[in-house]
Amino acid sequence: MAEGSDRFLRACRRQRVDTTPVWIMRQAGRYLPQYREVRRNAGSFLALCKTPELACRVTLQPIDLLGVDAAILFSDILIPLQAMGMSLDFVEGEGPVLDRVRDTADLNRLRIPVPEEELPFVAEAVSLIRRELSGKVPLIGFCGAPFTLACYALEGGGTKDFKRILGWLYGNPEGYGRLMDLLCETVIVSLRAQVAAGVQAVQLFDTWAGVLSRRLYRDHALPWVRKVFAGLRDLEVPLILYVNGCAPFLEDMAGSGADVLSVDWRVSLAEAQERTRGRVALQGNLDPRALYAPASALRREILAVLAEAPASGHIFNLGHGVLPDTPVEAVQALVETVHEAGRGGDLRL
Ligand code: CP3
Repeated sequence: MAEGSDRFLRACRRQRVDTTPVWIMRQAGRYLPQYREVRRNAGSFLALCKTPELACRVTLQPIDLLGVDAAILFSDILIPLQAMGMSLDFVEGEGPVLDRVRDTADLNRLRIPVPEEELPFVAEAVSLIRRELSGKVPLIGFCGAPFTLACYALEGGGTKDFKRILGWLYGNPEGYGRLMDLLCETVIVSLRAQVAAGVQAVQLFDTWAGVLSRRLYRDHALPWVRKVFAGLRDLEVPLILYVNGCAPFLEDMAGSGADVLSVDWRVSLAEAQERTRGRVALQGNLDPRALYAPASALRREILAVLAEAPASGHIFNLGHGVLPDTPVEAVQALVETVHEAGRGGDLRL
């Protein structure tokens, strides 16, 4: 393996590293002109996700252009919903549109996909990417967490008020539980297939769980996250859990079975470290909007994140995905600054 290539996996396990590893949520995406070019030729976003050669090409772009310490499979959290039998479309300027689950009859039509049959392009992309990377950096796989997938399944797309998901959670606990069980099983089989194909760590995106109170999170989202992680434990790959707006839940998340918590910018890494008492590694947590600031201000914000980070078991990342019009030079400067100013060190336990 090339030098430095194991920084990310070592930090996930809270082992010594030569400098802080860094990767960026949504690192392959529209802010890169090279991505926009491949995307234009692919015709649609879904075609890009389902064509292994193209998915591989865009997965590798940020490795070459930014020098990040991990690749993340190019795909989307909504693809398994389509494999469960829901229609899915990405409408230009509007985001995802799904034929939403309205009632028990719709629920009964959903099936747990067989990845080899309904998601063969994922495993093919993973093998291709691993071959092309040839050990340069590890490859991260991912899925949406059951609660966040339930939001899309019930709302039929993006939402600001989460009325339907909370309507089911409060008013139809039986239906809610059945949907979450189906999603949980789907996530487990999808992630197991990704690991079998070669991903070396997995991240569970529970982006929307931050809309819940702590009590609701504990009772109606966390139990299924625990089940997912329990269903992956024997695979021995690092398990990363991301929630946007995770501050109220840090203690609960630390007991989920995750090895790494991916933290947003609203809570400091020092507080996260204190509240999780060294049970997990931490990933994060720069505000993606800091990338629009002048170079000196961006540098100051990066150093502030590093200053609050634990001495080991830290992976630098943003607190949410990089925004589509972010200047590429700022992202490049971020990676350089983290590598130059990041630190190694012994496990502080
Ligand atoms: O991080 C990466 O580089 C890997 C690929 C990746 C994508 N989506 C590609 C994508 C990952 C890990 C995701 C996760 C994802 N997808 C999440 C969880 C993380 C987060 O950001 O909160 C969510 C909620 C989705 C659902 C989704 N996909 C939405 C709401 C949208 C439309 C909004 C948007 O940003 O365009 C997408 C589309 C999408 N997924 C794009 C990419 C690169 C843009 C598609 C394009 O127009 O080219």
